[in-house]
Amino acid sequence: MTAGPRPATQAWLAAAACVALAGGAHGATPRPAQTTCATCHRAQAQSQPHTSMGIGLELPPNQESLEAHPKLTLEANGYRYQIERKNGVSTYTVSDGSGALTLPIRYAFGARNLTFVLEYQGRFYESLVTYYAEIEGLGITMGDDRIKPHNLTEAMGRQTSEQEIADCFGCHATGAVSGAKLTLASMQPGVNCEHCHTGADAHMQAMAGGKPAPAPRKLGEMAAEEMSSFCGECHHTWETVVRQRLFGQKNVRFQPYRLALSKCFLGDDKRIRCTACHDPHVEVIREDAHYDRACLSCHAVSGKACPKADKNCVSCHMPKVPVLGAPMVFNDHNIRVTHAGDPYPW
Ligand code: HEC
Ligand code: HEC
Ligand code: HEC
Ligand code: HEC
Ligand code: HEC
Ligand code: HEC
Ligand code: HEC
Repeated sequence: MTAGPRPATQAWLAAAACVALAGGAHGATPRPAQTTCATCHRAQAQSQPHTSMGIGLELPPNQESLEAHPKLTLEANGYRYQIERKNGVSTYTVSDGSGALTLPIRYAFGARNLTFVLEYQGRFYESLVTYYAEIEGLGITMGDDRIKPHNLTEAMGRQTSEQEIADCFGCHATGAVSGAKLTLASMQPGVNCEHCHTGADAHMQAMAGGKPAPAPRKLGEMAAEEMSSFCGECHHTWETVVRQRLFGQKNVRFQPYRLALSKCFLGDDKRIRCTACHDPHVEVIREDAHYDRACLSCHAVSGKACPKADKNCVSCHMPKVPVLGAPMVFNDHNIRVTHAGDPYPW
């Protein structure tokens, strides 16, 4: 038997066929259709941009939650907040007895809950109020409940350093930071292919030009520990949590740290890495039974996995923990046996 074409060749032939077809459809002057990742990696390219990670932050035309709730208000700290949508643009107003401050909302961070990064007099602020999907309304931004504003500017938002704002864009967008400087002109919202697959753009251009190109690194080769550090660049690594002493219930958001606390975490194993349970190209699946296969890949090996149940493992062993100061619930990645009333471990 002769060796079949390598997948590379097959994909390339398919791409060439697409280009030819698309060019022909335009009539007299055939132009090659633009090659994108979707030309060859259809599944990932179609789903990933619509995930929370792919969205990351929303610019005015895409702020659907604000479109759906054209007038949002909140009274807090003696101030009145109002977010109003008109002609596809939202404004953020904070007022007290003496006056009002109104700013346009350009950067709405998040895909479900939205915190606004506002510009005022050449500086950046993180809005003091956040839109929370759970309550379909406004609440104080997580972590800001202890701020007691003294004037309209302080009530509007928390002034951030250049570094902090660059970090926000670094995790929620692509191409927004170069060195440590903000480069918002080239910013694309969301975590896109190139952000995780370094070298993918060059790979695509070479492939499209018919040149041999090194494929981006196969991220699927990473074992648990390395994968946790990779995702932890944005989801917080174990080291970051320990160094910054982020202990207590607030660290339930930092899965690489929580997972490493679990007895299940075997660092050189692939069965407990992030992608054993999550495909980063699709939205997280909110269905307990979906995760049984991952648990049983280790626990079914020798006899009965659990004395209590044989399905929906995560419903008991990855308990839901409320995030302090915000109407949000996270699933504790410290997989374990829990009992009612147990304190939160670490
Ligand atoms: C013309 C077709 C083509 C285009 C366009 C293309 N790729 Fe690829 N890509 C391939 C082929 C073929 C391979 C497999 C190469 C190999 O295994 O040696 C590959 C490999 C990869 C891999 C490694 C896969 C693995 O197994 O881990 C990643 C990641 C990747 N491409 C991402 C991208 C991204 C992101 C884009 C868009 C920026 C893109 N590719 C555009 C054809 C293409
Ligand atoms: C460049 C930064 C970055 C990297 C790297 C990253 N993430 Fe994310 N991820 C985010 C951001 C930002 C969000 C929140 C997006 C939002 O809701 O707007 C997020 C959200 C998620 C969500 C939640 C989706 C939801 O429905 O709430 C999952 C699951 C997730 N990431 C898994 C992963 C995994 C697995 C990896 C590693 C393979 C990874 N992430 C790597 C930035 C990143
Ligand atoms: C180290 C990377 C990182 C930095 C820096 C960062 N974020 Fe995030 N952010 C994430 C990740 C990962 C998530 C998803 C998990 C979570 O909700 O904790 C997230 C979630 C969010 C959410 C909730 C999203 C949703 O859909 O529910 C908002 C809002 C948000 N971030 C805004 C900001 C703002 C504003 C800043 C800057 C002041 C910022 N973030 C800085 C990584 C980061
Ligand atoms: C948040 C990080 C992240 C983003 C963004 C991302 N990928 Fe991936 N991708 C991964 C990881 C991690 C793997 C390895 C999955 C595993 O462990 O099997 C992967 C694997 C792949 C593979 C190999 C086949 C597979 O699914 O295992 C292809 C092809 C690919 N990605 C294409 C893309 C394309 C195209 C985009 C943009 C539309 C994209 N990726 C965006 C993290 C990412
Ligand atoms: C053994 C399976 C498993 C592994 C491994 C795993 N997760 Fe999860 N993850 C889950 C489950 C289950 C949920 C909750 C889904 C739901 O809401 O129903 C979840 C939810 C999430 C969320 C959404 C926030 C939340 O708590 O609802 C993020 C973000 C996330 N995981 C990131 C990661 C990262 C990063 C890693 C690697 C460090 C990882 N996960 C490893 C099972 C896993
Ligand atoms: C990589 C293999 C692996 C995976 C995947 C895995 N576990 Fe484990 N798990 C282990 C090991 C190893 C131990 C420790 C056994 C011991 O100490 O005897 C353990 C221990 C446990 C314990 C007892 C912990 C304690 O506090 O005593 C529970 C409960 C558990 N696992 C449930 C799960 C569930 C639920 C899942 C899926 C969400 C899962 N495991 C996924 C390997 C794994
Ligand atoms: C209804 C809640 C519930 C569900 C669902 C559940 N478990 Fe358990 N599991 C428990 C409790 C409670 C214990 C502790 C039992 C004891 O100590 O007597 C336990 C114990 C365990 C242990 C430790 C056993 C030992 O000998 O130390 C493992 C491993 C485990 N479960 C895995 C799983 C897996 C895998 C699944 C899914 C197939 C699962 N569990 C589903 C409640 C549950």
